[in-house]
Amino acid sequence: MSKIALIGAGNVSSHLASIFTKKGHTITEIYSRKLQNAAALASSFAGVVPTDRLDFSESKAEFFLVSVTDNALENVLNQLVTLPNAIIAHTSGSHPLSIIPQSTQAGIFYPLQTFSKSKEVNFEQIPICLEANNKHNLLLMRQLASSISHHIYEFDSEERQILHLAAVFSCNFSNFLFTISKHILEKNKKEIPFDILKPLISETLEKAFEISPENAQTGPAKRADTAIIGKHLALLDTLFTQNKAINKREENWKKIYDLLTKQIIRFYTK
Ligand SMILES: NC(=O)c1ccc[n+]([C@@H]2O[C@H](COP(=O)([O-])OP(=O)(O)OC[C@H]3O[C@@H](n4cnc5c(N)ncnc54)[C@H](OP(=O)(O)O)[C@@H]3O)[C@@H](O)[C@H]2O)c1
Repeated sequence: MSKIALIGAGNVSSHLASIFTKKGHTITEIYSRKLQNAAALASSFAGVVPTDRLDFSESKAEFFLVSVTDNALENVLNQLVTLPNAIIAHTSGSHPLSIIPQSTQAGIFYPLQTFSKSKEVNFEQIPICLEANNKHNLLLMRQLASSISHHIYEFDSEERQILHLAAVFSCNFSNFLFTISKHILEKNKKEIPFDILKPLISETLEKAFEISPENAQTGPAKRADTAIIGKHLALLDTLFTQNKAINKREENWKKIYDLLTKQIIRFYTK
């Protein structure tokens, strides 16, 4: 069993703290730039020391998993002080291994999943993408990752960036389209619950994996049905665009419909 320090007290660190503890590892410290955030997370686990300092020269941790906001990562890594044998690994999809200062034992521990503190996940099913600066460190990281997931992959930094880009389209953009759908339903005279879309969204996901997303496409854009498309664009105008002062956030949703529709038509035009 390993000793692990978690750098960051956000979504990813919260889930890592739970799963590593559940699997019998020891979380030694949790760092946050705000001590109260580190303390809030550490309080759920026995014996974890919360800290707002990045000097870990006294720490017994063998792994430092760095899960901070991407634009703070480089700065945090540059300030992090550990013993020379400890492995420092970050969890970012798009930052390369080389962001970790040389002369340290460096790795990547990228869990390909969307994490929010309030939603539990089944870690065993989550792909964990590893990279390390040498074979020995890769082996150690593989042992650690295998203790929490059945799906371990090795990708270099270039490949992981491709993976992250695909993940943004699949997860973040799809989720934003769900958000638009929910707001459209709320515009109805009698609010329609978002839950009504659950069977449709579930079937969309299932079908994409069963027959491939290209083969699964349906709808007015796939059929190039300009009459229906015109009606939808007009309805979006009525629902959101006409009252710009109130609906600042929604004023481009018609453009999103239009752009995606044109892209679908182009994709399926022989
Ligand atoms: N969430 C996901 O779905 C997901 C999935 C895979 C990988 N990742 C990657 O994992 C990493 C962490 O993501 P997350 O979702 O856990 O982020 P998060 O919930 O936003 O947590 C970010 C952590 O970074 C700290 N932080 C923010 N700005 C900072 C600064 N300027 N200096 C020092 N610390 C700072 C925050 O500290 P405070 O508590 O003080 O605000 C917090 O502890 C990112 O590299 C992300 O790309 C995320």
